[in-house]
Amino acid sequence: MITNWLNELLKKELDVKVNVIQSNRPDLCDFQIDEAFKLAKELHKSPFEIANDIVEKIKNINNINDVIENIEVVNGFINITVTNSFINKMLVMINNDDKYCIKPEKKKVVIDYGGPNVAKPLHVGHLRSAIIGESIKRILRYKGNDVIADVHLGDYGLQIGEVIYAIQHDGKKDEEITLEYLNEAYPRMSGICKENEDIKKECEEITKKMQDGDPEYNRLCDIICDISIKDIKGIYEDLSVSFDLWESEKSAYKYINELEELLNKKGLLYTSQGAEVIDVAEETDSKEIPPMIFKKSNGAYLYGTTDMATIYDRENKFQPDNIIYITDDRQSMHFTQVFRSSLKAGITDATLEHKGYGTVNGPDGKPFKTRAGNAPSLRDMLNETRDIFISKKEDNKDMSDEDLNKIVNAIIKFADLQNNLTNDYIFDINKFSNTAGKTGPYMQYTVLRLKKILASESFDNNLTDTIYNEVDRNLRLKITNIASAFDKAYENRMPSYIVDYIYDLANEANNFYQLNHIAGLDDKTKKNDWLYVLNVTVNILTDMLKLIGIEIPSYM
Ligand code: ARG
Repeated sequence: MITNWLNELLKKELDVKVNVIQSNRPDLCDFQIDEAFKLAKELHKSPFEIANDIVEKIKNINNINDVIENIEVVNGFINITVTNSFINKMLVMINNDDKYCIKPEKKKVVIDYGGPNVAKPLHVGHLRSAIIGESIKRILRYKGNDVIADVHLGDYGLQIGEVIYAIQHDGKKDEEITLEYLNEAYPRMSGICKENEDIKKECEEITKKMQDGDPEYNRLCDIICDISIKDIKGIYEDLSVSFDLWESEKSAYKYINELEELLNKKGLLYTSQGAEVIDVAEETDSKEIPPMIFKKSNGAYLYGTTDMATIYDRENKFQPDNIIYITDDRQSMHFTQVFRSSLKAGITDATLEHKGYGTVNGPDGKPFKTRAGNAPSLRDMLNETRDIFISKKEDNKDMSDEDLNKIVNAIIKFADLQNNLTNDYIFDINKFSNTAGKTGPYMQYTVLRLKKILASESFDNNLTDTIYNEVDRNLRLKITNIASAFDKAYENRMPSYIVDYIYDLANEANNFYQLNHIAGLDDKTKKNDWLYVLNVTVNILTDMLKLIGIEIPSYM
């Protein structure tokens, strides 16, 4: 917020463009300006001369002494320290605004995440889509946007054909199709299909007939979907992940004919090796982008087809400004093809964004496995995390289910969202369930501790102009940075900016109260000021944790 404020001021007051940023030497100054080096080349002067000019001009701005305590040039860099009274002024503004002075934006955004596949158990890969997508959705909404979340189920692919094949060959009656049966049938069939080409062909035939409208196959598909979706909803509920729409690949089918007609009219489809494809390569491509297959030679439609039809549908229904997809990074080629085809066909004006994420690995650096050595279902992973947390401390067993669930969520989400999305990361339950270090439980524990101090003291909504010591100043300065940290997360669709910010804020708060004992304080004014500052801190921590899907338990 201070950087924005200073940048606005300098834009008005200076004839050269500069950018005030957070200092990377907080021991020397609060903020810095590094532009002198760039300007030196443009203006054919030395950086030192330019920096001095800028500093002189800043010093001459009216009433600048109210804002800037000290400004100086060090080796061509401009170092700025702001006044305590200015920090406090910003702090009051932040405290009095329910969005901490984050500027609103009003766009219409569709966000597509979760993407579970019906009839297959949810696995760890889908965990990331759910957690990251939910967080980005909350961040978009917090900023003021109109956001529609769509789970986009995978419910019309080969896995359904395989399970229908199993149902028929096992002679299962409708009422014998249960979740347990699906959990057993799908992996069995997928194993068989890898080995037996003939059976695989038969399953593909079933899938194709189903997609073409065969009533019996569609009836079975509906039964499978109902059972599987109920299970999926239960897991999402435990993760506090929710959607406005439960659209799917299947629901996109009704738009394919219309879309195909349009593509033909525009002359975008051509036949290649029997399939209908759209060219999407561009001259500037550094690697080959193959054409998108719209229809296979046997007449079947593919993943790209349903995704294009879904864009077509979303444009007609919502006219979104942005459509954002959260999937494994390995799908980036798919989305490049779908986005390019859609833009080429002119079926949407939205900005299409794909946010790809990396793999969750175990402590051995290989894809995460349970103790039993299996690639874990999401359910197993949640249960195992819970067991390990409970085993850490005698008291943990006595916690309520609700509190335990909040902690399991915090462990998993904080571990995930602190990473740059595209990176793989190592999920080490033991490490991430500690109440120290960069973990969810540490954040929850910090909030509870601060809340306890606030609950035992009364204070009013007034802040004086004084800052009492260094840790106090560091905490206040950190608070004033909330809006720019949030905006970085928002603009980059990257919750890790919020995680980093609140982790730093929690550390500053812990430093603060280790040195500044509030309980026995006689100085009433000082006490009130400090409680005020801690109160803003708790509010920010609580609200930002909510944006990454973390709630505070009743005790720890
Ligand atoms: N079901 C897909 C998968 O498991 C993810 C779907 C993502 N969304 C989309 N519109 N393609 O990989």
